[in-house]
Amino acid sequence: MRFSHIAAGLGWAVTTTSAASNCGRDVYDYIVVGGGPSGIITAERLSAANHKVLLLERGHGPTVATGSNYTLPWNDTLTPIDVPALSSAVNTLPLWNEYFCSDTPASACVLGGGTTINYMVFVHPPAHDFENWPKGWNWEDIAPAAQRLYDRNPGSTLPSEDGQRYDQGLYSLLSNLFGNLGWKSIDMIDQPDEKHEVYSYPAWNIKDALRAGPVRTYLPLALERDNFTLRTGAKVIRLIREGSRVTGVEYESSGRRQIVKLAAKGRVVLSSGSLSTPRILFHSGIGPAAQIQTAKDSGVEVPPEEDWINLPVGQNLKDHPIFPIIVKSNQTWGPLNTASVLNSSDEKNIGLYESQGSGVLTQGRHRLIYFTSREGQDGTTRYFQGSCAASGKGVFTVTSYLTHGLTSTGVLGLDKDGKTVIEQSPYLQTEADIEASTSFVQNMIDIFTAPGTGLAMNTTTNATAILKSRTNGNHFVGTTKLGTDDGRMGGTSVVDLNAKVYGTDNLFVTDAGIHPDLPTGNTQAIVMVVAEAAVAKILAYKD
Ligand SMILES: Cc1cc2nc3c(=O)[nH]c(=O)nc-3n(C[C@H](O)[C@H](O)[C@H](O)COP(=O)(O)OP(=O)(O)OC[C@H]3O[C@@H](n4cnc5c(N)ncnc54)[C@H](O)[C@@H]3O)c2cc1C
Ligand SMILES: *[C@@H]1O[C@H](CO)[C@@H](O)[C@H](O)[C@H]1NC(C)=O
Ligand SMILES: *[C@@H]1O[C@H](CO)[C@@H](O)[C@H](O)[C@H]1NC(C)=O
Ligand SMILES: *[C@@H]1O[C@H](CO)[C@@H](O)[C@H](O)[C@H]1NC(C)=O
Ligand SMILES: *[C@@H]1O[C@H](CO)[C@@H](O)[C@H](O)[C@H]1NC(C)=O
Ligand SMILES: *[C@@H]1O[C@H](CO)[C@@H](O)[C@H](O)[C@H]1NC(C)=O
Ligand SMILES: *[C@@H]1O[C@H](CO)[C@@H](O)[C@H](O)[C@H]1NC(C)=O
Ligand SMILES: *[C@@H]1O[C@H](CO)[C@@H](O)[C@H](O)[C@H]1NC(C)=O
Repeated sequence: MRFSHIAAGLGWAVTTTSAASNCGRDVYDYIVVGGGPSGIITAERLSAANHKVLLLERGHGPTVATGSNYTLPWNDTLTPIDVPALSSAVNTLPLWNEYFCSDTPASACVLGGGTTINYMVFVHPPAHDFENWPKGWNWEDIAPAAQRLYDRNPGSTLPSEDGQRYDQGLYSLLSNLFGNLGWKSIDMIDQPDEKHEVYSYPAWNIKDALRAGPVRTYLPLALERDNFTLRTGAKVIRLIREGSRVTGVEYESSGRRQIVKLAAKGRVVLSSGSLSTPRILFHSGIGPAAQIQTAKDSGVEVPPEEDWINLPVGQNLKDHPIFPIIVKSNQTWGPLNTASVLNSSDEKNIGLYESQGSGVLTQGRHRLIYFTSREGQDGTTRYFQGSCAASGKGVFTVTSYLTHGLTSTGVLGLDKDGKTVIEQSPYLQTEADIEASTSFVQNMIDIFTAPGTGLAMNTTTNATAILKSRTNGNHFVGTTKLGTDDGRMGGTSVVDLNAKVYGTDNLFVTDAGIHPDLPTGNTQAIVMVVAEAAVAKILAYKD
């Protein structure tokens, strides 16, 4: 193997674009497409089982160890991605334009995918998150996979190495408020099944005072193995098929197209995320005929029509809607001044971080997370999450989500230019979702503005206006749904119980798209858990 670039310091091998001309010679047992959380976990486990694995990622590495040179002025081994408290500033930096996909909504095009740019909230899934999954994928089946993840990447509610919590004004205010209402104080990592009228210190994807996630907790293990190759700057366009068998992958690198081949019994695993994997499938003649036709019209070389596999790819799109609830108090805390951390002037917090791995810089932006639930008018229990963070002096925003139990779905497709688009909104499409969300938001307004709290709504003051200010949850699932009802026969599923695409011999999916249902909390932890479970099924599957 030749490496065109040896990442600084650690001697890890990351091949970048220029090594691609080499690719004709090598064939792989597994090609994994997409180096987000699901793809890195998939590729690491496959290589640990002694398979020859190529991981193709369209973006570049976000850490110094993976080749980034966006270092901080006060520490040339750290980028803004690494420092937990800077997670709230990432979307204000120039690197955001490089890391956020230009052709796909709400997605990150960087090694690590969403886990590189997200707010690090890490919700261990409760058992009930798997209640609507098919047999073989319920919590009792999944628990060992979850344990494998947590052994390497547990998350933390107390990331400061001195064992202290910093900037606790907002936590005090809200824990008193909810405590007085009889809500229960829990630890959301130790008590993941408690999701009704509970509040917790936030659990974050942080380890050793740094942003964690598979780039840090899995990838180094794979990079040490001769059988593992990571190629960044490699955007996969389509799969090369001979009927039901995938034989290779075409990708674009520095404007050039390359084809990389599979070994005779080789397999491809798509892990490009719930919004990007569908496009690769459409380009490969897999999905609704109308989408494949759009891909063809946009200039993609799709397979001949007799090889098209008609599956409901992109249907069953689900996401958590966010309702921002903004409240003011008479207190004086506020958001961390990240500009003064970025320009080195916040010597106190930087000093504590550098010398002891401690202080407010080891924390994410949220200060308290609560969960509750209510029964909808259709008899289905719907869950809600509120992630609370300071958004001004004495002002806090509850990023409140409608989560598990919601019944709305949307549709994902391609536009004429080949970009991924949401064709049908997945938000608040059913009466029961609207009714439950309205009464939840009204209940929150009543709680915050009850006499004696000293709180008032900041700007948007009523439930109707708050529902109207709804934003995307960035927690998309369901576009390549896993299940037993074969989509070729009019069912809703795209992959079978081994995560193999129906109608193919050797094509699998392990990203958020296979989740048939939405979890109760933010998605990254359950995405990693499910990737662990899926790669085990793939390794066990014999053709
Ligand atoms: C702005 C934002 C904030 C979020 N906040 C949180 C949070 O605080 N907590 C939480 O739990 N979850 C959060 N999420 C959601 C979470 O990050 C995602 O659920 C998770 O990252 C999904 O993992 P994935 O592996 O399915 O896909 P992704 O993370 O999307 O990874 C897909 C990877 O594939 C690559 N790729 C895509 N197309 C191609 C191609 N054609 N060729 C090669 N590579 C390709 C991408 O570059 C990317 O690296 C957030 C998401 C976003 C976008
Ligand atoms: C993987 O690498 C080991 C040595 O590092 C080698 O013995 C083995 O044959 C390789 N396996 C494959 C499938 O390439
Ligand atoms: C940093 O990396 C980018 C992208 O690889 C490159 O364009 C730029 O020149 C590099 N900057 C420095 C200072 O090395
Ligand atoms: C830079 O950060 C790393 C990782 O946190 C730390 O080990 C190192 O000591 C820091 N360097 C300096 C000069 O403080
Ligand atoms: C650093 O940023 C802070 C906050 O924006 C600002 O007040 C300060 O003047 C800046 N210092 C330097 C040295 O640029
Ligand atoms: C709160 O309200 C003030 C004005 O009343 C406004 O300037 C500020 O932007 C609001 N804060 C948020 C987070 O919306
Ligand atoms: C803030 O509001 C609380 C609750 O109404 C009140 O007890 C407290 O005195 C107020 N503090 C100040 C500084 O006004
Ligand atoms: C709700 O708030 C919006 C804007 O904040 C306002 O225009 C509207 O009149 C309010 N509706 C009610 C019923 O108070």
